[in-house]
Amino acid sequence: PSDGLIDRFGRAATDLRVSLTDRCNLRCTYCMPAEGLDWLPNESVLNDAELLRLIQLGVDLLGINEVRFTGGEPLLRKGIVELIASVAALTNRPEMSLTTNGLGLVRKAVDLKNAGLDRLNVSLDTMNPETFTKLTRRPRHGDVIASLAAAADAGLLPVKVNAVLMRGVNDHEALDLLEFCLQHGYQLRFIEQMPLDAQHGWDRSTMVTADEITELLSARYTLAPHAGARGGSPAELFTVDGDRGTVGIIASVTRPFCGDCDRTRLTADGQIRNCLFSSTETDLRALLRSGAHDEEIAAAWRGGMWTKLPGHGINDPSFLQPDRPMSAIGG
Ligand code: GTP
Ligand code: 5AD
Ligand code: SF4
Repeated sequence: PSDGLIDRFGRAATDLRVSLTDRCNLRCTYCMPAEGLDWLPNESVLNDAELLRLIQLGVDLLGINEVRFTGGEPLLRKGIVELIASVAALTNRPEMSLTTNGLGLVRKAVDLKNAGLDRLNVSLDTMNPETFTKLTRRPRHGDVIASLAAAADAGLLPVKVNAVLMRGVNDHEALDLLEFCLQHGYQLRFIEQMPLDAQHGWDRSTMVTADEITELLSARYTLAPHAGARGGSPAELFTVDGDRGTVGIIASVTRPFCGDCDRTRLTADGQIRNCLFSSTETDLRALLRSGAHDEEIAAAWRGGMWTKLPGHGINDPSFLQPDRPMSAIGG
């Protein structure tokens, strides 16, 4: 492996996704059970100084130029505003974004913007408060709707909205979700559900596919492929009715984009994963805590990325879901 985070297939990882905690304050049925999961003990979670060191060496030695904070729910991390301000103060600071469920964002949006956060993505699967309560097991629909406005008002633009459609649960809401986002200027992206739930209950038959989503939306809107590069984003973009806005489809399962993958992931407990679906991890926490030099850590990180597989393998007969669920990997 040469300087950057290159793998055997020539991909270079420049986008670092950092999970700040594996905890969450929602319990989405497609993600985790009602009782939650066995959360990581505090001492296993990287502290701010450890995270800053890894991000700085990623930027200095490995070509990282973008950082996305995920979870669990990243806003549950104590001191997240200060952490983001510290990343913003690094030399050659990376671009910074956040993927959140929106809870607590109304209070934090302005502070996050002032700290240096560039933009954020909020998850919202339904426009119906009762369906939201069923799906997330918490009655917080209003908070999420308010958080979108707070993000836009704070200038955290573009505000992107992530929606996972599930057959018989919320697939009849595709048009309502899009209308709402168009009216408010949010960029909605529909996501194909992947086999990453803690319960291992994913079933191809309940997954609403990209083709089905296009068909659902075409009942009311005219979609046209959006000119311009995807720029490392998993979403295929479409313009809606000419100039009303754009909508994205993240077709991870039926149209995988692994060949263009530019991601490297850091779990909250300091493990590098070269893919959402990787079966191995590289333990940077042990290196950090045993006094390793930056170069040693960088070499281990490079080694962990070099073995990245060409694709996620979801469509292979021999596919096995990774042990860690999405919430513990970072979305
Ligand atoms: P931007 O488009 O740059 O804003 O980021 P993003 O779409 O990667 O961020 P976000 O965290 O909002 O992720 C949205 C969805 O994309 C996730 O819920 C996943 O379903 C999917 N996704 C994110 N990263 C990956 C990945 O590395 N591989 C695959 N297959 N899907 C991913
Ligand atoms: N497949 C696809 N997306 C998922 N998300 C959570 N679990 C899955 C899954 N199994 C989404 C959430 C959120 C983002 C972080 O990941 O809806 O928008
Ligand atoms: Fe990259 Fe793995 Fe996601 Fe494919 S599934 S895009 S290889 S992280």
